[in-house]
Amino acid sequence: MHIFQFLNQRRVRVNWPWVAVMTGCLVCAKVPAQNVSTATTDGTATTAASTNPAPTYLRDVQPIFMGSCSRCHNQQSRFIYDWLDYRTAYADRWEIRRRIWDSWKGSYYKEAMPVANSPESLALTEDERMTILKWVDNGGLRGVPPPPGVARSKTERIAQGRRLFTSICAACHQPTGRGLPNVFPPLAGSDFLNADKNRAIQTVIFGRQGEVVVNGLKFNNSMPSFPLNDQDIANVLTFVYNSFGNSGLEVTPDEVKGLRSQRPVPSGAPASSGPPAAKSDFE
Ligand code: HEC
Ligand code: HEC
Repeated sequence: MHIFQFLNQRRVRVNWPWVAVMTGCLVCAKVPAQNVSTATTDGTATTAASTNPAPTYLRDVQPIFMGSCSRCHNQQSRFIYDWLDYRTAYADRWEIRRRIWDSWKGSYYKEAMPVANSPESLALTEDERMTILKWVDNGGLRGVPPPPGVARSKTERIAQGRRLFTSICAACHQPTGRGLPNVFPPLAGSDFLNADKNRAIQTVIFGRQGEVVVNGLKFNNSMPSFPLNDQDIANVLTFVYNSFGNSGLEVTPDEVKGLRSQRPVPSGAPASSGPPAAKSDFE
């Protein structure tokens, strides 16, 4: 059973050791914090959050939530708040601040939010924490969406994609692209990725749940879908394809656009529901 089904059925506070068991977590408590440096989707590196006195949600905070919180806090999880939604995050901003800040400093009675089976939130950097703190203290501004990463060449696409990778994907797939055993599959030299470009694009558009075998290793987890536009997805996948020993393909915004309507059939679901489905080799 999937964790969110479980949470939706039982409208109760969650017992963490239980969740760890339910999610099949094998490396829970022991994953060391990683130093994932951050960048915003508009291309400005924010490694020094201190130089950015007024972070906004859309430019600075949402990318952090995408990488570090959205595996659990997303649109599909009805019981747990969706931090990718501005209004929800705004309404609960003080609790977010407490969880990622005070609790981390040890002064809060609850577990720090980086709890069992969330290596990506454990990997929050001091800069990211500071960005969220300042965002809350300055009134939780929404801001404007960063402009889409328009690229005029493959080289530009890769450069833009690298920044997105660092700010979002690296929280889970790791800065090296090698993933984490049993939790996050590798993108580095991934046979799954290199075998089928359309399937890789759909993975990033729609997210992915359930079992997947990458380079002979089984993973059974969940990747959320991210609020990224066609350019961003093209850029980040082109970066991934041109890094970590992968095949060097380019992904264009048109290809991404063309696949948006073709949601893959989840395994076990009737093929007739929803919009026209892609070939069911998605599993
Ligand atoms: C592995 C799944 C997971 C990840 C990753 C995760 N959370 Fe949570 N979060 C939960 C669950 C489950 C709850 C509900 C149980 C609880 O209150 O502890 C929760 C509750 C919360 C709450 C309390 C909401 C309220 O007011 O009741 C906050 C705030 C929160 N999370 C913030 C975050 C932030 C910020 C991140 C990213 C840095 C994050 N979480 C990452 C699973 C997760
Ligand atoms: C919150 C953690 C998380 C983030 C952030 C994340 N992924 Fe994933 N990703 C996963 C998980 C978990 C799976 C495996 C899902 C499953 O078990 O079906 C996965 C699977 C994949 C796969 C297919 C399997 C493979 O290894 O080739 C690709 C491709 C992929 N992700 C690309 C990306 C890209 C690109 C980004 C950044 C835009 C990204 N992911 C961000 C967690 C994440």
